[in-house]
Amino acid sequence: MPLKFPEEFLFGTATAAHQIEGDNKWNDWWYYEQIGKLPYKSGKACNHWEFYKEDIQLMASLGYNAYRFSIEWSRLFPEENKFNEEAFNRYQEIIDLLLANNITPLVTLHHFTSPLWFMKKGGFLREENLKFWEKYVEKSAELLEKVKLIATFNEPMVYVMMGYLTAYWPPFIKSPLKAFKVAANLLKAHALAYEILHGKFQVGIVKNVPIMLPASDKERDKKAARKADNLFNWYFLDAIWSGVYRGAFKAYRVPQSDADFIGVNYYTASEVRHSWNPLKFFFDAKLADVSERKTQMGWSVYPRGIYIALKKASKYGKPLYITENGIATLDDEWRIEFIIQHLQYVYKAIEDGLDVRGYFYWSFMDNYEWREGFEPRFGLVEVDYETFERRPRKSAYIYGGIAKSKEIKDELIEKYGLSSL
Ligand code: GAL
Repeated sequence: MPLKFPEEFLFGTATAAHQIEGDNKWNDWWYYEQIGKLPYKSGKACNHWEFYKEDIQLMASLGYNAYRFSIEWSRLFPEENKFNEEAFNRYQEIIDLLLANNITPLVTLHHFTSPLWFMKKGGFLREENLKFWEKYVEKSAELLEKVKLIATFNEPMVYVMMGYLTAYWPPFIKSPLKAFKVAANLLKAHALAYEILHGKFQVGIVKNVPIMLPASDKERDKKAARKADNLFNWYFLDAIWSGVYRGAFKAYRVPQSDADFIGVNYYTASEVRHSWNPLKFFFDAKLADVSERKTQMGWSVYPRGIYIALKKASKYGKPLYITENGIATLDDEWRIEFIIQHLQYVYKAIEDGLDVRGYFYWSFMDNYEWREGFEPRFGLVEVDYETFERRPRKSAYIYGGIAKSKEIKDELIEKYGLSSL
């Protein structure tokens, strides 16, 4: 039997500004790329800032009905008191083009990068800096007038962990105390944005949910996995409604707020082992070894995890979107298999009564994969970084077929799918 998705279901793709636009010269990443603190430079990236029309045209012709992208704060405010009208207009043009092509936009306000001037003032580490965020959100409300779905932050705990715990990413600060303070301030920033935007927009937040598997059957490893799951996955979201954020060392009061939807990013699983150090999981996060083949990122493929993540995220009683799910590989047949198998589980979640409203494949096209640079190929569309030519892969068409018909046909399931879930 073919898997028939609801008529209004969104089948989209996802990107982020810094990873595709090119020449994002006013943010923290760009700065550290230039001084050699990051191994690769984003440079022109996919040159989407110039090729946006072609890209949207291509999306439409492939049959996708939704697109998640982020707007770049530092483009709109390259300096504290300087507003870039041209960037504002360009983003509006992008939104108009999407709408004209019946592609529903879901716009992220913050996807890892921040203006350099903001970071020089301490970024989200200092609560008084939220006034700058507030100004950006107000401007975004104007810019996104015709958009319905807005996500405030992308993967806040990844931002915290990479920037302030492992310090692999800007601003390269290694301080557990500061890390949880930043998390608490992100919650305040979300609440502030929710207050400004709610009513006019559906305002959500995007959380990635790695599945925490115990390293063994031992009770203490199981306990450690549950702890890691709470600390990394749920305490942040819980705090939106409870007003209490449970960090690793202490609890923080944050405003009680709300979210109109939860975006779930799902890629893979982690393996958790007991340790007396409460943060060892963060420093030692080990990728779980649950599939024979590993992606270009070294990640296992674990399709059942998308179902587990959705089930757990449904505890908030809010509509859910898979805002990212994807695979970095040069083997496009594997990408097709990946998509079909994960969609089988998304379908199962819907069948179980979960309110899942959309799926966004990461990514529309190959792009700048942060510290990993341009090597990992996540795209449905291949990008030639010399000529910026776009070449849709077979997976782009297969996914387009699913998006257009809103169903996964038997032949596809037979060839690529899991025979039992
Ligand atoms: C997510 C992130 C994206 C993309 C993806 C693939 O964590 O939001 O920007 O890089 O992972 O690694």
